[in-house]
Amino acid sequence: MSDTSRLTIVAHPLVRHKLSLMRDSATPGPDFRRLLREIALLLTYEATRDLPVAMQPITTPLTEMEAPMLSGPDPVVVSILRAGNGLLDGVLDVIPTAKVGFVGLYRDEETLRPVQYYCKLPPDLAGRLVIAVDPMLATGHSAAAAVDLLKQAGAQEVCLICLLAAPEGVACMEAAHPDVRIVTAALDSHLNEKGYIVPGLGDAGDRIFGTQ
Ligand code: URA
Repeated sequence: MSDTSRLTIVAHPLVRHKLSLMRDSATPGPDFRRLLREIALLLTYEATRDLPVAMQPITTPLTEMEAPMLSGPDPVVVSILRAGNGLLDGVLDVIPTAKVGFVGLYRDEETLRPVQYYCKLPPDLAGRLVIAVDPMLATGHSAAAAVDLLKQAGAQEVCLICLLAAPEGVACMEAAHPDVRIVTAALDSHLNEKGYIVPGLGDAGDRIFGTQ
């Protein structure tokens, strides 16, 4: 794992191997979806490293003991539509009690800025770890706008899980939301003229949902 201030790159061999399979354009859609879910689970493991635990009494088949249990309020996971849905189940596999929210943004073709078309969030974001999920941190404009919405709704601690990040997206997030931790499987080289991450894996939404 490599860690700069707010960027964590999870370079575990399982994550690296699964990501390479996902990058391969020959990987079929069902495999792509399964791999994304598996990597989401592994990235969540890192993103939740600092969740609070408290000792509670339990009884094992052999004895009584004080055992560590998660002690804070349930985290919230927010999918940035539509590709964020590809990560959602992997997060829920390891945090089944998480509340779930959705944020939909589209890009205004004139201003090139993200515009909200949907937002449904659980109440009481304050005090909870809010995990925003979007596979591709490209320009960073959508992620920054989504985090704006989360903070307006009361979120105080936000973490962004993405499969791939571009330096441009990381810089955008660091400028707009320097407090937000980013957990990713890889930091790629750059964006091309169409805004795709290079080497990347293409359009994540199309590959998840078979729409290309
Ligand atoms: N969104 C994608 O799906 N892929 C990219 O490379 C960039 C943004």
